[in-house]
Amino acid sequence: MVRFENVGLRYGNGPEVLHDVSLSLAPGSYHFLVGASGAGKSSLLSLLYLARRPTRGLIQMFDHDIAAVPRDQMPTLRRKIGVVFQDYHLLDHLSALENVALPLRVAGNDRGKIRDHVIELLEWVGLGDKLDVRPPALSGGEKQRVAVARAVIARPKLLLADEPTGNLDDTIGERLMRLFEELNRLGTTLVVATHNNNLPVRFPHPVLRLEDGELHPVANQGGGRHAVSTAS
Ligand SMILES: Nc1ncnc2c1ncn2[C@@H]1O[C@H](COP(=O)(O)OP(=O)(O)OP(=O)(O)O)[C@@H](O)[C@H]1O
Ligand SMILES: [Mg+2]
Repeated sequence: MVRFENVGLRYGNGPEVLHDVSLSLAPGSYHFLVGASGAGKSSLLSLLYLARRPTRGLIQMFDHDIAAVPRDQMPTLRRKIGVVFQDYHLLDHLSALENVALPLRVAGNDRGKIRDHVIELLEWVGLGDKLDVRPPALSGGEKQRVAVARAVIARPKLLLADEPTGNLDDTIGERLMRLFEELNRLGTTLVVATHNNNLPVRFPHPVLRLEDGELHPVANQGGGRHAVSTAS
Protein backbone atom coordinates (compact mmCIF):
# COMPACT_ATOMS: atom_id res chain seq x y z
CA MET A 1 0.00 0.00 0.00
CA VAL A 2 2.89 2.35 0.85
CA ARG A 3 6.57 2.18 -0.06
CA PHE A 4 9.27 4.72 0.78
CA GLU A 5 12.75 4.35 -0.68
CA ASN A 6 15.57 6.51 0.68
CA VAL A 7 13.23 9.38 1.39
CA GLY A 8 14.70 12.63 2.67
CA LEU A 9 12.86 15.77 3.76
CA ARG A 10 14.03 19.26 4.57
CA TYR A 11 11.98 22.38 5.24
CA GLY A 12 13.12 25.24 3.03
CA ASN A 13 16.88 25.67 3.30
CA GLY A 14 16.99 24.12 6.76
CA PRO A 15 18.72 20.90 7.71
CA GLU A 16 17.35 17.56 6.57
CA VAL A 17 14.85 16.33 9.17
CA LEU A 18 14.28 12.87 7.63
CA HIS A 19 17.21 10.90 6.21
CA ASP A 20 17.06 7.86 3.95
CA VAL A 21 13.75 6.63 5.27
CA SER A 22 12.79 3.33 3.67
CA LEU A 23 9.67 1.46 4.71
CA SER A 24 6.84 -0.55 3.34
CA LEU A 25 3.36 -0.81 4.80
CA ALA A 26 1.39 -3.85 3.72
CA PRO A 27 -2.38 -3.50 3.28
CA GLY A 28 -4.04 -4.20 6.61
CA SER A 29 -0.89 -3.62 8.68
CA TYR A 30 -0.81 -1.55 11.89
CA HIS A 31 2.36 0.21 13.04
CA PHE A 32 3.18 2.47 15.93
CA LEU A 33 5.56 5.33 15.13
CA VAL A 34 7.60 6.38 18.17
CA GLY A 35 10.52 8.67 18.86
CA ALA A 36 11.55 11.67 20.93
CA SER A 37 10.01 15.09 20.43
CA GLY A 38 11.49 16.57 17.27
CA ALA A 39 12.56 13.17 15.88
CA GLY A 40 10.38 13.66 12.80
CA LYS A 41 7.15 11.73 13.49
CA SER A 42 4.76 14.45 12.32
CA SER A 43 7.03 15.17 9.34
CA LEU A 44 6.90 11.54 8.28
CA LEU A 45 3.11 11.52 8.65
CA SER A 46 2.86 14.68 6.51
CA LEU A 47 4.58 12.76 3.69
CA LEU A 48 2.18 9.86 4.22
CA TYR A 49 -0.88 12.06 3.91
CA LEU A 50 0.58 13.77 0.88
CA ALA A 51 0.69 17.24 2.40
CA ARG A 52 4.35 17.50 1.38
CA ARG A 53 6.54 15.99 -1.26
CA PRO A 54 9.91 14.59 -0.20
CA THR A 55 13.10 16.46 -0.99
CA ARG A 56 14.57 13.24 -2.30
CA GLY A 57 13.73 9.55 -2.65
CA LEU A 58 10.73 7.64 -3.93
CA ILE A 59 7.24 7.40 -2.48
CA GLN A 60 4.71 4.95 -3.85
CA MET A 61 1.18 4.92 -2.48
CA PHE A 62 -1.87 3.03 -3.69
CA ASP A 63 0.16 1.86 -6.72
CA HIS A 64 1.12 5.41 -7.75
CA ASP A 65 4.55 6.98 -7.88
CA ILE A 66 3.66 10.17 -5.98
CA ALA A 67 6.15 12.35 -7.89
CA ALA A 68 4.30 11.49 -11.12
CA VAL A 69 0.76 12.16 -9.86
CA PRO A 70 -0.65 15.39 -11.35
CA ARG A 71 -1.66 17.99 -8.80
CA ASP A 72 -5.34 17.75 -9.70
CA GLN A 73 -5.37 14.00 -8.93
CA MET A 74 -3.98 14.40 -5.42
CA PRO A 75 -7.38 15.05 -3.76
CA THR A 76 -8.64 11.69 -5.08
CA LEU A 77 -5.70 9.93 -3.44
CA ARG A 78 -6.04 11.95 -0.25
CA ARG A 79 -9.66 10.89 0.10
CA LYS A 80 -8.44 7.34 0.76
CA ILE A 81 -6.54 8.64 3.80
CA GLY A 82 -7.93 9.63 7.19
CA VAL A 83 -5.77 11.83 9.40
CA VAL A 84 -5.90 12.78 13.07
CA PHE A 85 -3.60 15.81 13.28
CA GLN A 86 -1.56 16.45 16.40
CA ASP A 87 -3.21 19.87 16.66
CA TYR A 88 -6.59 18.62 15.38
CA HIS A 89 -7.08 21.06 12.40
CA LEU A 90 -10.80 21.38 13.04
CA LEU A 91 -12.77 24.11 11.30
CA ASP A 92 -13.73 26.58 14.01
CA HIS A 93 -16.76 27.97 12.19
CA LEU A 94 -18.39 24.55 11.87
CA SER A 95 -20.10 22.57 14.62
CA ALA A 96 -18.71 19.25 15.86
CA LEU A 97 -21.34 17.51 13.76
CA GLU A 98 -20.46 19.47 10.62
CA ASN A 99 -16.72 18.89 11.13
CA VAL A 100 -17.22 15.14 11.32
CA ALA A 101 -19.63 15.16 8.37
CA LEU A 102 -17.14 16.99 6.17
CA PRO A 103 -15.35 13.98 4.59
CA LEU A 104 -18.73 12.47 3.68
CA ARG A 105 -19.97 15.79 2.28
CA VAL A 106 -16.79 16.18 0.20
CA ALA A 107 -17.42 12.68 -1.15
CA GLY A 108 -20.80 13.93 -2.39
CA ASN A 109 -23.16 12.53 0.22
CA ASP A 110 -26.43 14.22 0.98
CA ARG A 111 -26.55 16.12 4.30
CA GLY A 112 -29.76 14.39 5.45
CA LYS A 113 -28.50 10.90 4.66
CA ILE A 114 -25.30 11.16 6.68
CA ARG A 115 -26.67 12.93 9.74
CA ASP A 116 -27.69 9.79 11.67
CA HIS A 117 -24.39 8.12 10.94
CA VAL A 118 -22.41 11.12 12.18
CA ILE A 119 -24.54 11.46 15.32
CA GLU A 120 -24.10 7.77 16.09
CA LEU A 121 -20.30 8.05 15.92
CA LEU A 122 -20.21 11.25 17.99
CA GLU A 123 -22.42 9.62 20.63
CA TRP A 124 -20.08 6.65 20.67
CA VAL A 125 -17.07 8.87 21.43
CA GLY A 126 -19.08 10.50 24.23
CA LEU A 127 -19.99 13.74 22.48
CA GLY A 128 -23.71 13.21 21.96
CA ASP A 129 -24.41 16.37 23.94
CA LYS A 130 -21.91 18.51 21.96
CA LEU A 131 -23.16 17.98 18.41
CA ASP A 132 -23.84 21.65 17.74
CA VAL A 133 -20.87 23.06 19.65
CA ARG A 134 -18.05 24.68 17.69
CA PRO A 135 -14.41 23.70 18.39
CA PRO A 136 -13.42 26.91 20.25
CA ALA A 137 -15.93 25.93 22.95
CA LEU A 138 -14.70 22.34 23.25
CA SER A 139 -12.00 21.05 25.63
CA GLY A 140 -8.73 19.65 24.23
CA GLY A 141 -9.88 16.06 24.69
CA GLU A 142 -13.28 16.82 23.13
CA LYS A 143 -11.57 18.37 20.09
CA GLN A 144 -9.35 15.31 19.86
CA ARG A 145 -12.41 13.04 19.80
CA VAL A 146 -14.04 15.15 17.07
CA ALA A 147 -10.77 14.88 15.09
CA VAL A 148 -10.71 11.09 15.47
CA ALA A 149 -14.39 10.82 14.47
CA ARG A 150 -13.74 12.96 11.37
CA ALA A 151 -10.72 10.83 10.42
CA VAL A 152 -12.63 7.53 10.56
CA ILE A 153 -16.14 8.49 9.39
CA ALA A 154 -15.49 7.82 5.69
CA ARG A 155 -13.76 4.47 6.38
CA PRO A 156 -10.34 5.41 4.93
CA LYS A 157 -8.05 2.74 3.51
CA LEU A 158 -5.13 4.31 5.38
CA LEU A 159 -5.57 5.92 8.80
CA LEU A 160 -2.81 8.14 10.19
CA ALA A 161 -3.08 9.35 13.76
CA ASP A 162 -0.63 11.76 15.38
CA GLU A 163 -0.72 11.31 19.16
CA PRO A 164 -4.48 10.53 19.05
CA THR A 165 -4.90 9.81 22.76
CA GLY A 166 -2.61 12.56 24.09
CA ASN A 167 -5.42 14.56 25.68
CA LEU A 168 -7.77 11.78 26.66
CA ASP A 169 -8.45 10.07 29.96
CA ASP A 170 -7.78 6.33 30.15
CA THR A 171 -11.37 5.25 29.55
CA ILE A 172 -11.99 7.23 26.39
CA GLY A 173 -8.40 6.65 25.18
CA GLU A 174 -8.94 2.92 25.54
CA ARG A 175 -12.21 3.20 23.66
CA LEU A 176 -10.53 4.94 20.72
CA MET A 177 -7.72 2.40 20.67
CA ARG A 178 -10.39 -0.34 20.51
CA LEU A 179 -11.99 1.51 17.60
CA PHE A 180 -8.63 1.50 15.81
CA GLU A 181 -8.27 -2.24 16.48
CA GLU A 182 -11.72 -2.85 15.02
CA LEU A 183 -11.02 -0.73 11.92
CA ASN A 184 -7.75 -2.62 11.45
CA ARG A 185 -9.63 -5.93 11.76
CA LEU A 186 -11.93 -4.70 8.99
CA GLY A 187 -8.94 -3.99 6.75
CA THR A 188 -7.84 -0.40 7.43
CA THR A 189 -4.06 0.13 7.40
CA LEU A 190 -2.92 2.23 10.38
CA VAL A 191 0.07 4.27 11.49
CA VAL A 192 -0.25 5.72 14.99
CA ALA A 193 2.43 8.15 16.19
CA THR A 194 2.68 8.22 19.97
CA HIS A 195 4.76 9.25 22.96
CA ASN A 196 2.79 6.82 25.07
CA ASN A 197 5.13 3.88 25.65
CA ASN A 198 2.24 1.86 27.03
CA LEU A 199 0.38 1.65 23.74
CA PRO A 200 2.86 -0.66 21.98
CA VAL A 201 2.84 -2.84 25.11
CA ARG A 202 -0.94 -2.96 25.37
CA PHE A 203 -1.47 -3.38 21.62
CA PRO A 204 1.01 -5.76 20.01
CA HIS A 205 1.76 -4.04 16.72
CA PRO A 206 5.19 -3.53 15.20
CA VAL A 207 7.00 -0.34 16.10
CA LEU A 208 8.82 2.09 13.84
CA ARG A 209 11.24 4.22 15.84
CA LEU A 210 12.54 7.56 14.58
CA GLU A 211 15.82 8.81 16.00
CA ASP A 212 17.02 12.16 14.68
CA GLY A 213 15.23 11.60 11.38
CA GLU A 214 16.41 8.03 10.89
CA LEU A 215 13.92 5.20 10.96
CA HIS A 216 14.61 1.97 12.84
CA PRO A 217 12.20 -0.94 13.09
CA VAL A 218 11.99 -2.50 16.54
CA ALA A 219 10.53 -5.82 17.50
CA ASN A 220 7.56 -5.11 19.75
CA GLN A 221 7.97 -6.60 23.19
CA GLY A 222 4.19 -6.96 23.15
CA GLY A 223 4.65 -9.67 20.49
CA GLY A 224 3.46 -8.31 17.15
CA ARG A 225 0.84 -9.97 14.99
CA HIS A 226 2.47 -8.61 11.86
CA ALA A 227 6.05 -9.04 10.78
CA VAL A 228 8.16 -5.90 11.06
CA SER A 229 8.05 -4.57 7.54
CA THR A 230 10.69 -1.90 7.24
CA ALA A 231 12.77 -2.44 4.12
CA SER A 232 16.47 -2.88 4.80
N1 LIG B 1 7.02 23.51 9.19
C1 LIG B 1 8.28 23.35 9.60
N2 LIG B 1 9.26 24.20 9.20
C2 LIG B 1 10.53 24.03 9.59
N3 LIG B 1 10.94 23.02 10.40
C3 LIG B 1 10.02 22.15 10.83
C4 LIG B 1 8.64 22.27 10.46
N4 LIG B 1 7.96 21.25 11.04
C5 LIG B 1 8.86 20.55 11.73
N5 LIG B 1 10.11 21.09 11.62
C6 LIG B 1 11.34 20.56 12.23
O1 LIG B 1 11.47 19.18 11.85
C7 LIG B 1 11.94 18.41 12.94
C8 LIG B 1 10.97 17.25 13.18
O2 LIG B 1 9.73 17.81 13.64
P1 LIG B 1 8.41 16.95 13.80
O3 LIG B 1 7.28 17.86 14.07
O4 LIG B 1 8.29 16.03 12.64
O5 LIG B 1 8.81 16.08 15.11
P2 LIG B 1 7.89 15.12 15.99
O6 LIG B 1 8.64 13.82 16.12
O7 LIG B 1 6.52 15.04 15.46
O8 LIG B 1 7.92 15.85 17.41
P3 LIG B 1 6.76 15.92 18.58
O9 LIG B 1 6.85 14.60 19.30
O10 LIG B 1 7.21 17.05 19.42
O11 LIG B 1 5.44 16.13 17.93
C9 LIG B 1 12.11 19.35 14.10
O12 LIG B 1 13.46 19.70 14.18
C10 LIG B 1 11.26 20.54 13.74
O13 LIG B 1 11.80 21.72 14.28
MG1 LIG C 1 4.70 15.66 16.18
